Amino acid sequence: MNDARFSALRKKIIKHLKESLGPRLFAHCLGVEAAAVQIAAASSNHFLIKSCSIAGLLHDASKCLTLFEMQNAAAASGFKIRTAVLEKEGLLHGHVSAVIARRVFGIADVRIISAIRHHTLGRPKMNALEKIIFISDYIEPMRNFEGIETLRRKVYEALFSDGLDHALLLVVRDKIRSLTQLKIDLEKTLPEIEKSLAEKLNM
Ligand SMILES: [Fe+2]
Ligand SMILES: [Fe+2]
Repeated sequence: MNDARFSALRKKIIKHLKESLGPRLFAHCLGVEAAAVQIAAASSNHFLIKSCSIAGLLHDASKCLTLFEMQNAAAASGFKIRTAVLEKEGLLHGHVSAVIARRVFGIADVRIISAIRHHTLGRPKMNALEKIIFISDYIEPMRNFEGIETLRRKVYEALFSDGLDHALLLVVRDKIRSLTQLKIDLEKTLPEIEKSLAEKLNM
């Protein structure tokens, strides 16, 4: 995607999000974009940076929809989605945001679509774009929960000294901890990602 097309697409997405999401969610999407672009900037990979911008902005684009509307969009998408995911907005919205990315904005890049789809639970063997969006969604500047300051500092330290996988493991572990505390059913994906990263990094 050339710079002119990227810039026009980004403006169109921001206008759509501003009109369809509430102010808090809109600010969160801008925050995820900013965090993701900042992380990707270290790579000097312009394609990755632009992909982070688009995926970061759009990752929660469907959050204004009802569960019923999400389920209808998911059913027509052709995506394979587990029943447990189809039953919860909190798990389903990434897949439906990817539908919006494809249908409304004509985004065909499978890496961007996958990063949007899997930003909540992750998936095994994530690529760099998926890892960055997953991390950014959790630590973007608007996020405000107990322990976020310390976690954010540790994640940035890990990012710029040890690498993306170390930062990802910190976020995965904190997400598992907070979901467990909230008594939210832990999908098997997150513990599996935690286990494989811990083995790979010996942490
Ligand atoms: Fe989300
Ligand atoms: Fe989000």
